[in-house]
Amino acid sequence: MKPFKRWFGSKPEGEELIQQLDSDNIPNHVAVIMDGNGRWAQKRGLPRVAGHHSGMKNVKKITMAANAIGVRVLTMYAFSTENWKRPKEEVDYLMKLPMEFFPKEIDELIANNVQIRMTGWHEGLPDYTLKAIQDAIDQTKNNTGLILNFALNYGSRKEMLRGIQRLVADVKQGEISGEEIDESLFSRYLLTDPLPDPDLLIRTSGELRISNFMLWQLAYSELWFTELCWPEFKEHNFYEAIQEYQRRARRYGGL
Ligand code: FPP
Repeated sequence: MKPFKRWFGSKPEGEELIQQLDSDNIPNHVAVIMDGNGRWAQKRGLPRVAGHHSGMKNVKKITMAANAIGVRVLTMYAFSTENWKRPKEEVDYLMKLPMEFFPKEIDELIANNVQIRMTGWHEGLPDYTLKAIQDAIDQTKNNTGLILNFALNYGSRKEMLRGIQRLVADVKQGEISGEEIDESLFSRYLLTDPLPDPDLLIRTSGELRISNFMLWQLAYSELWFTELCWPEFKEHNFYEAIQEYQRRARRYGGL
């Protein structure tokens, strides 16, 4: 078994659980639907946005936990194309979170060799949101460690439809032929290209749905759900999900 790596800055909790994991069977890509921020806040008599703030702080903790065990890609579903339907004050609050998160956390993310990426549409996002993310992407572009990928202004059906439109245009222009279209070629027309498909999807807050998230990419992912709301989902819960992943036999339709 290869040894787990060291980390810099705040240490992830749950070290004893790390030692119980099989370091040769760590999911390459973990995707997370960070649900339940609003309910977490409301249960405590706080405004919904307090839940988002607490959820933002948790992004950093779980990133460090994933990094410590050698996860290569961690995708966090931060804002869906459907989330625009929420009250304006809540949307405005969510859009400002990157301006708080990155300046506060970037040094530690860099010290841990983390690369920031975004999967989603730029159109519709405020300039300040995009700038905060783009600055973080630029500052971490030479890092080679964990990819912390924010799914922001992302929706899977739109992603597939836009991909098909581009694919059809390329066929019309003779750049590719219809016969060439296979799973790997289609994947290249999705926003997640060139990231690998998630091996494990975690969804918090007890909801048992995929909610228009990576519908194509999750075809063979292991799904893991917890009743815990995102702000109360801690490092040891993340490691429990990894332990459960390691108990599953992935057969991809075979025997
Ligand atoms: C869903 O919970 C959560 C969101 C729509 C937002 C998630 C965003 C973060 C945790 C912060 C991301 C951080 C950065 C830096 C971009 P909900 O509010 O829908 O929960 P509910 O179902 O209880 O209402």
